[in-house]
Amino acid sequence: MVQRSGPSSLDVAAATDAAPERNGRTRPSSDKQVSNVFQPGRRTHSLLGVQVAGIGGYVPDVVVTNAQLEARYGFEPGWVEQRTGILERRHAPEGTATADLCVEAARNAAQSARIDLDDVDLLVVGTFTPDYHCPSTACLVQHELGLDCPAFDVQAACSGFMYALVTAAQFVASGNSETALVVGGDCNSRIVDPTDQRTAPLFGDGAGAVLLTKGDPHQGLLCYQLGADGGGTPLLYRPAGGTLTPATADALAAGDHYLKMDGRNVFKWAVRALTDTIELVLDRTGMAVRDVDLFLVHQANVRIIDYAMEQLGISPDRVHNNLQRFGNTSAASIPLAMDEAYREGRINRGDTVLLSGFGAGLTWGTGLFRW
Ligand SMILES: CC(C)(COP(=O)(O)OP(=O)(O)OC[C@H]1O[C@@H](n2cnc3c(N)ncnc32)[C@H](O)[C@@H]1OP(=O)(O)O)[C@@H](O)C(=O)NCCC(=O)NCCS
Repeated sequence: MVQRSGPSSLDVAAATDAAPERNGRTRPSSDKQVSNVFQPGRRTHSLLGVQVAGIGGYVPDVVVTNAQLEARYGFEPGWVEQRTGILERRHAPEGTATADLCVEAARNAAQSARIDLDDVDLLVVGTFTPDYHCPSTACLVQHELGLDCPAFDVQAACSGFMYALVTAAQFVASGNSETALVVGGDCNSRIVDPTDQRTAPLFGDGAGAVLLTKGDPHQGLLCYQLGADGGGTPLLYRPAGGTLTPATADALAAGDHYLKMDGRNVFKWAVRALTDTIELVLDRTGMAVRDVDLFLVHQANVRIIDYAMEQLGISPDRVHNNLQRFGNTSAASIPLAMDEAYREGRINRGDTVLLSGFGAGLTWGTGLFRW
């Protein structure tokens, strides 16, 4: 059992001010409901016989530094770096959207695996910033890559890659897919209010992809947990643009199509979620922190990562971070970090890698992957 200490009781009940309305009633967002946010559950599963055959990442060329945002929007100098550890992020140029980022990441993954994309028989894309509400971003990626396979999106916000990975791995483990392409991609710069210091500078654009193929019986997810708690909706959500509140002129004028975030309470939830879910997965496999070769966790805020790792007794050299350069790229964050770590020689066959994502929903997903 991993030993930890630190804050355990959360004041999430305060996170209720921006609750979505339905028929005049406040929905899953009353004080009582939100105060119950993060009921992690104890269900975990195992999924072996799957391997990562290739990884690829892609970020747009346009670098946007904190200094540029400070000059452009009057943000408090040094605030973003001090509160998040983020120094710069990438923004997709006009005319480039999530599917374009995903296509580039997929091509890079195929190249690294020396796998012909014609062999791909399943495509799952994790994204919460689709090019269109309909059709799915996966269909656009499928078309652009000329794939002959089923293609669908998984929407679990910043846990999107973990959800997509676990979904595709089921097909591979069962023998119903021989080569599955899993992509996590988001174009966050399009959904944040650029003038909002507490939200916009935290996010960036990018995509990451893996190709999954049948592995030996020791490879794959030794243990994983996927979780969701919709009681946390008002902590991180986009009020307008869906079927409840369409993107009317009034909604757009009010900025309700932008991502709304209760950063303070997301912060506290994230520290606890990350700590609890990693501890659970390690516990279930009887593994200790020292048995894990590398920790790749969602790149949201370096303070969230540092606090959680400290509580779990994980030293910083066992964690691969890149949020300093890319910010929070949502579903792309874990595969982008994985791609970098792999290319730096930090992941090798037989290694045990802990992957953990968390985000809007609330959702979370953690997997202990034997490479
Ligand atoms: C937006 C943000 C940068 C603002 O930074 P900030 O002003 O320094 O942080 P805040 O004060 O808003 O919130 C941090 C809270 O966590 C608390 N906290 C600090 N260390 C903590 C720890 N180890 N464990 C739990 N909570 C902790 C702080 O005390 C503070 O709560 P308080 O105001 O009740 O004292 C920050 O809130 C944030 O990054 N939130 C998470 C955003 C995020 O990652 N979103 C995407 C999720 S996928």
